Amino acid sequence: MPGSWIMNRTSAVTRLKLTGFRNYAWLDLALDARPVCLFGPNGAGKTNLVEAVSFLGPGRGLRAAGSDAVRQRGAGGEAPVWAVHAEAETAHGPVTLATGADPDNPARRKTRLEGVATTQTQLARLFPMIWLTPREDRLWAGPRSDRLRFFDRLVLAGEPGHGTQANAYDKAMRERQRLLERMDEGLSVDLSWLDALEAKMAEAGTAMARARLVALNALQSEINDRPASAFPKADLALSGYLEGLLVEDEGAAQTRFAARLKDTRRKDGAAGRALTGPHRTELEARHREKDQVAADCSTGEQKALLLGLALAHGAALARERGAAPVMIFDEACAHLDVDRREGLASAIAAIGCQAWLTGVEKGLFEAFGEGVQYVSVEAGQAVRG
Ligand SMILES: Nc1ncnc2c1ncn2[C@@H]1O[C@H](COP(=O)(O)OP(=O)(O)OP(=O)(O)O)[C@@H](O)[C@H]1O
Ligand SMILES: [Mg+2]
Repeated sequence: MPGSWIMNRTSAVTRLKLTGFRNYAWLDLALDARPVCLFGPNGAGKTNLVEAVSFLGPGRGLRAAGSDAVRQRGAGGEAPVWAVHAEAETAHGPVTLATGADPDNPARRKTRLEGVATTQTQLARLFPMIWLTPREDRLWAGPRSDRLRFFDRLVLAGEPGHGTQANAYDKAMRERQRLLERMDEGLSVDLSWLDALEAKMAEAGTAMARARLVALNALQSEINDRPASAFPKADLALSGYLEGLLVEDEGAAQTRFAARLKDTRRKDGAAGRALTGPHRTELEARHREKDQVAADCSTGEQKALLLGLALAHGAALARERGAAPVMIFDEACAHLDVDRREGLASAIAAIGCQAWLTGVEKGLFEAFGEGVQYVSVEAGQAVRG
């Protein structure tokens, strides 16, 4: 049965333990693989709890917080260190994962899989993760870099190596910039080192752009194939120098990008940043039915487009890669009418993922019926109920 096959391959947190994490002094929550609906008043700790879940995936979580920001402090109590422990089902079998402040250097976060230090790529493989929070509400009308970061997270959920390539690219780009600034000041630089950095940028950048195009095509065909639903269909496009080169001439893209970097050393040095490359790519979206760019759509339409996109991506990953991501929807239901809440519930059920949803009232999740588990959150405590 296809449904149960997807369920077996889905990443799901089955036990979550928090110590000194934000407003949680201590929490031990046992769960099953079904979606989790968290409800409770403002300031109870719902977003903090899903943030802890987002810490199980690669990166810095859904608030992009540093290690010290999440340590419990304030009137509720002070914790010297913090930790998130999880038992989870993954596409690669059951695992235990622990992340927390490094006791030797609490400003740093340390993550261990089965007690052994792990890598971002390994986390991305075990915990493909997609989240939508109120922060993403302004995604279409906000800065280009936020859209690209959002899209890169979608890419990472399907291609665990994407983050490593992006880090390698950024590192080489920063180092190149340092050398270009030295050149600009008339200081001597090792030109062979500069060539090597540009070769690295070209190699990692091409891999990044390729992964983005693969993800975009998979996502677009999923959107195209989906039946009409409460969430509008988007037409997506990536406009970037390297993505354009890849479409034009896959084989020569890397070499041409390296040559371009060499040609633009002076300009990039003077500008203080690399003016060309996959860090400058733009994700464009149009509301198909309205034939309007996403940024010009109403607030509700923009949000529905984004939800449609996230759900299509989750469905594509579940179907094509056989591993549904953990999907976090912080405060998604509050702004949806009944039809859209039902649409969200049935899309999540069809993906078969462990979605995490938050809302101020249990009643917001009525459309989810019996297929979910409820957690009541209040003042840094969370219990099944
Ligand atoms: N490092 C920290 N230590 C202690 N408390 C913190 C820390 N960071 C945030 N908090 C507090 O945790 C509380 C819960 O925050 P959270 O964002 O999880 O609330 P919420 O349940 O999502 O509320 P809302 O419905 O308003 O979104 C807030 O009062 C917040 O100030
Ligand atoms: Mg919240």
